[in-house]
Order: sequence, then C-alpha cells, then structure tokens
Amino acid sequence: MPVIEVDRVSKRFGELRAVEDVAFSVEKGEVYGLLGENGAGKTTTMRMMATILQPTSGDIRIRGFSVRREPVEVRRCIGILFGGDVGLYSRLTARENIAYFGKLYGLDDRMLAQRMESLSSMLDMKEFMDRRVGGFSRGMRQKVAIARTLVHDPDVILLDEPTTGLDVTAANMFRRMVARLQEEGKTILFSSHNMGEIERLCNRIAIMHKGRLAYAGTIEGLRNKVKMNDLDDIFMAMVEGGGLDET
Ligand SMILES: Nc1ncnc2c1ncn2[C@@H]1O[C@H](COP(=O)(O)OP(=O)(O)OP(=O)(O)O)[C@@H](O)[C@H]1O
Ligand SMILES: [Mg+2]
Repeated sequence: MPVIEVDRVSKRFGELRAVEDVAFSVEKGEVYGLLGENGAGKTTTMRMMATILQPTSGDIRIRGFSVRREPVEVRRCIGILFGGDVGLYSRLTARENIAYFGKLYGLDDRMLAQRMESLSSMLDMKEFMDRRVGGFSRGMRQKVAIARTLVHDPDVILLDEPTTGLDVTAANMFRRMVARLQEEGKTILFSSHNMGEIERLCNRIAIMHKGRLAYAGTIEGLRNKVKMNDLDDIFMAMVEGGGLDET
C-alpha cells in the first residue's frame, strides 16, 4: 500500500479551482517531487495532506488514514514544513522553539532531549541552539523550522519549497539531510518549481499545472515521452502548451 495516496482530490475556493481531480501516490522510502509554477496548486495540495484544508471532493490517505475521517491519526504521522515565513517565536531560543512543538506532540523530557541532540547534530546547529531566534539569518531560521518539523520523528515528511532562499551551503546541507532521512526509511514529498533541484533528489515526480495533474511518473519516462532531454525545456514546453494530454 502506498504511504501517500492522493485520490482524485479537488479543492475549490469559491469559483476558483485551485486543485482539480489530482491523483498520484508515493511509496514508502520514496523522495517524490511535486512540481509546478506559481499558483499551480502545490501548497493547496500539501495543506490538504496536512489536514489544514478539507478537500472539496476526493480524498487523501496517509498510511491508510483518510484526511477527511482520521485527521488526528494523519497529523501524528506527518511532519510539514512550509516555505516562506516559517513563523518562529523570535524571543525564544532555537531549543525553546523546537521544544515547544515537541511538547505539543506529547514528547516527554527524556525523549525531547534525545531528539534535540540528534537534530542539532544532523542539521549542524549546535552553535546556535541556545541563542534567540530573533537575530538569526534566513538559513538558520530554516534549520530551526526543519528541526521543528522533525521533532516527533514523523514517518511522512512534507516539504513545501524548502530550499527557496537558501544559499549553496545550506541547500547542500538540506540535500544531505533528505538523503539521510530516506536512508532511515522516511517517505518524503517535496515541492519546488526548480526542475534541477527535483532531479537531484527524486526519481518520480508529479507536475501540476493550473490545478490539474499534467504528469505523474518517472523523470526518465517524462523525457522519453516528450523527446526532450533538458528538464527546463520540458517544463517550459508544458507550461506554454497548457500541459501534457495524458499521463
Ligand atoms: N485560502 C485561499 N483562498 C483563495 N484562493 C486560494 C487560497 N489558497 C490558494 N488559493 C489559490 O489557489 C491557487 C493555487 O495556489 P497554491 O498556493 O496552491 O499554488 P502553489 O503551486 O503553491 O504556488 P507557489 O509556487 O506560488 O507557491 C492560486 O490561484 C491561489 O491564489
Ligand atoms: Mg506554494
């Protein structure tokens, strides 16, 4: 059974069809890419996965739990990171920010200390764990946000444009982290509008275009299908042509 099953899901905001009849699935241990230009519906799809938004129709199942009927179970097994402003408490230290979320997830002190140790070493943030987040650079904030996403050791990790605004070093750190989480058997869905980024990490991708699914499958399959090699060219051709017909 796939770990993430997007089952013909749609989301409307009034007249606007933000997500329309989208279906794809992600297997355990996979790093799966969700691609699309601005406004394609990526964040809306991930918000439905995270039970922040209710689908208008269709469903999404995470480890078999329905976002409609079993949101509590879904929330327990996912960690989600949204790009942009990550909403940390600037008067608290990195450690306190992460601990706050750990407590919300019901971790006890011993477990919390253990997770804190492992996350701060994985993300190379030991030097600033006890400094206030208020003065942090963007990359430092992003690390805190990632640690907060992973504090309860979720099996399914949703990353919405996690590398936007990161420098080369931080982006490399991020890639290593994704590889390591994959080795641990985590299932990762990560969105981007950068083909190159996706290609480095994923074998399979879904491409959304104006709310609809334009492609779901391997990168290799996409190349064969459109007979173009450069992914950026493929992407541009799809966007200009209004997407691929069939998948
Ligand atoms: N809460 C909302 N109310 C009304 N419209 C919304 C809402 N959230 C998203 N939309 C609309 O849904 C569409 C899809 O937006 P979404 O944020 O999912 O796109 P995206 O693929 O994440 O884009 P980006 O790459 O810019 O982050 C857009 O037209 C957007 O304006
Ligand atoms: Mg978005």
